[in-house]
Amino acid sequence: MRILVLGSGAREHALAWKLSSEPGVTHVLCAPGNAGIARTIPTRPVELLDTAAVIRLVDQERIDLTVVGPEAPLGNGLADRFEAEGRRVFGPTRGAAQLETSKAFAKDFMHRHGVPTARYRVCASAQDALTAVGSGEFGDALVVKADGLAAGKGVVVAPDRAAAEAAITGAMVDRSFGDAGARVVLEELLTGPEVSFFVVANGEHYVPLLSAQDHKRIFDNDEGPNTGGMGAFSPSPLMTPALQQQIESTIVQPVLRGMAAEGHPFRGFLYCGLMLTPDGPTVIEFNVRFGDPEAQAVLPLLPELTPLLLSEPGRQSRFSVPSVALVSVAVVLAAHRYPGDVRTGDVIHGLDDVARDCRDVQMFFAGVTQKGNDLVTSGGRVMTVMATAPSFEIAIARAYEAASKIKFDGMQYRRDIGRKALSAR
Ligand code: AMP
Ligand code: GLY
Repeated sequence: MRILVLGSGAREHALAWKLSSEPGVTHVLCAPGNAGIARTIPTRPVELLDTAAVIRLVDQERIDLTVVGPEAPLGNGLADRFEAEGRRVFGPTRGAAQLETSKAFAKDFMHRHGVPTARYRVCASAQDALTAVGSGEFGDALVVKADGLAAGKGVVVAPDRAAAEAAITGAMVDRSFGDAGARVVLEELLTGPEVSFFVVANGEHYVPLLSAQDHKRIFDNDEGPNTGGMGAFSPSPLMTPALQQQIESTIVQPVLRGMAAEGHPFRGFLYCGLMLTPDGPTVIEFNVRFGDPEAQAVLPLLPELTPLLLSEPGRQSRFSVPSVALVSVAVVLAAHRYPGDVRTGDVIHGLDDVARDCRDVQMFFAGVTQKGNDLVTSGGRVMTVMATAPSFEIAIARAYEAASKIKFDGMQYRRDIGRKALSAR
């Protein structure tokens, strides 16, 4: 079995690493990958939004299964083309990917199918949106979301009306996110802890994977600006069997039934971003692919995944995640000035020390490139250091021991990844 993983971040490194270890998988390639991934996994250059080029690569490399990491190629119809041409792909079609690519679609869909989510209004003009804010229908504090894909930057939690108005003007008048801001969704502000829950879906069938908690803000104690994610741990101690049951029956099942009924059966990783409100688990957002950095935390805990990714459309797979004996903590090491305009080119030291000395630790690379014999930084989130252990205390200690051995100028990382897992008990 030859597998191609599409993408270039630490999530794709974790996917490729996980699949490489599985029975029957003889080759795993990553495209385009990065110089850190290329240390252990063959990589190939490719432009992910050029579907014809991806298909040429698949044919040249005699790939049996293509696994898509990021959302953009899915929104661009990559899976539709693969399916039309009889090539195996794991990831949803463009129609099914709307759960992530259009927040207005996702909200209206949830409304149609009775899936719990924040009260909302879709606004097609700045005037509509400003009027809705002025009317006070969502109270003073509310959330403003650009409809389309905005690289994780399209959501503003506005503490007051002035902030909401500024967010609306930014998205709809100044077009800070381009066409993604042609419409905005206004939402009531919910409160409660956030948990991510992942399933592998195949039409109406699905297999629950695990829960995780992300850390979106740059600084400890969830302070400072939002980022792509500064670390994660899995599973979330908040996810009791009863809560998982409730999430499956009130969210996962109606979503998969509804997508199938509307002609967009969903195949792929479904990422449910949830808030545990006093009224029960409520959907904040869906993603149609694995999370980053959640994938780096969840994948190392899972049993054999390949058969699940290969199951024929609409077929139930006999897979179950055994009750987990291990937990994981994944810490993101970020570049100078992230999440702003980052400096690149800083030499990364200590990687060999981690590989030699650290037990149950994996390094997953993202924003790195090769310069002579050195790996140097080339992006905001440089790499993830992940540790597994029988307890969060030990996993935290292992991950931070490894992180402390890695050094590059301007390196920043949160020191509190995993702490919430300790205080939740
Ligand atoms: P996103 O970029 O869609 O992941 O959203 C960023 C963050 O905004 C989420 O992780 C939540 O913390 C927050 N958020 C989004 N919608 C709401 C809401 N309705 N109420 C409270 N917080 C929200
Ligand atoms: N960790 C959030 C995301 O992947 O969107």
